[in-house]
Amino acid sequence: MSVRHFRNLLDLTPSELQAIIARASELKQMQHRGEIYRPFVGRTLGMIFEKSSTRTRISFEAGMGQFGGQAIFLSPKDTQLGRGEPIEDSAKVISSMVDIIMIRTFEHKKLELFCENSSVPVINALTDDFHPCQLLADMQTFHEHRGSIKDKIVTWVGDGNNMCASYILAAHQFGFHLRVTAPYGFEPNPELIEEYSHCVSYVEDPQEAARGAHLIATDVWASMGQESEQMTRARRFAPYQVSPAMLDKAEPDVLFMHCLPAHRGEEISFDLLNDPRSVVWDEAENRLHAQKALMEFLLKDKIKLD
Ligand code: CP
Ligand code: NVA
Repeated sequence: MSVRHFRNLLDLTPSELQAIIARASELKQMQHRGEIYRPFVGRTLGMIFEKSSTRTRISFEAGMGQFGGQAIFLSPKDTQLGRGEPIEDSAKVISSMVDIIMIRTFEHKKLELFCENSSVPVINALTDDFHPCQLLADMQTFHEHRGSIKDKIVTWVGDGNNMCASYILAAHQFGFHLRVTAPYGFEPNPELIEEYSHCVSYVEDPQEAARGAHLIATDVWASMGQESEQMTRARRFAPYQVSPAMLDKAEPDVLFMHCLPAHRGEEISFDLLNDPRSVVWDEAENRLHAQKALMEFLLKDKIKLD
């Protein structure tokens, strides 16, 4: 059987995605009850990070530890990856020694090349194009607070970046309608909008885009690798700041999400994370549970599930 990877949300079927988020909530309850569950004893996760991380690193590393396995942190600074060893060679070697791999890198193509040469499952832990692990946590969080997201209205405010592209694929896979509102020149890839036009629309005015939404989500104005554009972006994105006043335009039970790290006074107002409609801390915690469920799914043929 060929190896399953998680490059973006299209690598799993809608029912597999639903099963993973349901399992994530189950694993969360087990963790909160203090239950010990170690299906990964003797298993190893390789973690390749070419960009910074707090949530992703801790959730994968802690999750692997809770499952009884171990995780190895690999940075380009102290591996041959940073000294030009070809991706293909690195993928062959690393995958011959570990059971599962996660990668956070720049070009999505690099991740795809790694997957083509890996003999074990590879998880996208963020590329310039997609951040699918975050969407598992976001979908789990919505489900835990409000039930099914099917047929709901979700508004993406701000940069048409890797998170926005992941929301577009999530709209298709989870059956919600996504409204995207972004400044001119910062919209998501037009090909994605066109391909998913059955579940995605573009709304120019951010306040109008918030009207009637069940979930509003945003992200930083300048992603990792775009630090030099910060000043220009700050001017262009100013009308796209999410605030409690913007949430007031949405449905009364609207939720607010942000993958974090957040910048108060930029993409969110200073008071937004204290608003009861914000669920960002649950969303961050759910990275742990969602990725444990994902790893369990990808290694299910190798491990004994009790
Ligand atoms: N949301 C997210 O991926 O956070 P980190 O960059 O801290 O991993
Ligand atoms: N869009 C952001 C997400 C960080 C978790 C970035 O790529 O830097």
